[in-house]
Amino acid sequence: MTEFSTLRERITDVIRREGPIPFSRYMEMCLYEPGLGFYAREREVFGKAGDFYTSSDVHAVYGRLLCRQFDEMWRVLGEPETIDLVELGPGRGLFALDVLDWAAKKFSGFAAALRYRLVETSEYLRKRQAERLSHHVAVGRASIHASLANAEEKCGAALIVFGNEFFDALPVEVVTAKGQVYVDVDASGRFVEVTRAETPEIAEFIDRYGVRPEEDQRVEVALAGQSWVREIAALLKPMRRGFCVFVDYGYTRNEQLAGRHLDTLMTYRQHEASPDPYAAPGEQDITAHVNFTALRAAAEQSGMHHAGLLTQSQLLLGIGEKTQFGDALDECRLPQERAKVLLQLKHLVTPAGMGEIFHAMILSHGVAPEAALNLSGLSFTR
Ligand SMILES: C[S@@+](CC[C@H](N)C(=O)[O-])C[C@H]1O[C@@H](n2cnc3c(N)ncnc32)[C@H](O)[C@@H]1O
Repeated sequence: MTEFSTLRERITDVIRREGPIPFSRYMEMCLYEPGLGFYAREREVFGKAGDFYTSSDVHAVYGRLLCRQFDEMWRVLGEPETIDLVELGPGRGLFALDVLDWAAKKFSGFAAALRYRLVETSEYLRKRQAERLSHHVAVGRASIHASLANAEEKCGAALIVFGNEFFDALPVEVVTAKGQVYVDVDASGRFVEVTRAETPEIAEFIDRYGVRPEEDQRVEVALAGQSWVREIAALLKPMRRGFCVFVDYGYTRNEQLAGRHLDTLMTYRQHEASPDPYAAPGEQDITAHVNFTALRAAAEQSGMHHAGLLTQSQLLLGIGEKTQFGDALDECRLPQERAKVLLQLKHLVTPAGMGEIFHAMILSHGVAPEAALNLSGLSFTR
């Protein structure tokens, strides 16, 4: 039980006691406050009955194609006896299940080596993942962790780190031409924005990886994403070899310099998008597009190799081309089943669907750059 019945009351209490809070703190509470935040409450947020769809909600072929890519990565790493696949922010565990099941069915060598480690901050989602993956957990093929540090203790020398829409769910700062946005409460109890001079860290981020907002413009600064990349690099660097695959919607600095992707903060509630993060705290997802230029810089500064950034469409076409997307149609018996699955695949791949909104960033460590470049998923970058 929480002391406050609504998240609005809880946030108001914090602001009344501590003064205005940085936007990132507000966003963090909206999404993750125990018992009250959007991802912490016991309700469905994914899929048709929830608030938004991710690629794994569309069809298992997404996980199956990525499984094919992970198998290839395992081979590039020399087919080690064990490989840990760490998934960040696995949501309701659909992707993990699709990968584990497909590995067992199609890639026996990889499946025997695979130890799937889910890293999830929401206690409620961890519970759901444990239920969904119960038979994989029971035999030690999957394990569920509340933090990366906890998963790390178990990891061996070969590693793949995967995240689908993980970085877009991390709290961001918002900056306007007047400064950094803080959230305050006015006399009538409404949340209102006030601005203060931005911290040197935020100013540096904007100068290096973003653009300065002009009058009436807003930009996001994702310091939490940078910390995550550094943490992941620290996990890989000392003794380990492996890959990272991060799929998310996002942009590069060049696109921002061309005037695009400013003010990308959005909310989703029952499949309706809105730009207002104050409308329904805890009831709506809040998300911001990912700055891939900043993530790449954090990765390279931490000693990782940036193998490529490409669209989801290019990634999936690259992986599926050789087998003519047989992974999609494997269990379809009837022509109408095939037709339905082909439409779902099309949605994942075409620009009108999810194919060009989402990008995949692939990083490697301890792998020859040419070997990384030869991965089928990266064939469109060659
Ligand atoms: C947008 S959802 C994506 C879920 C899933 N990957 C998918 O594609 O359906 C973001 C996920 O990241 C999790 N998450 C956010 N911050 C986290 C953190 N610091 N550590 C672990 N998981 C986190 C959320 O609880 C949620 O499961």
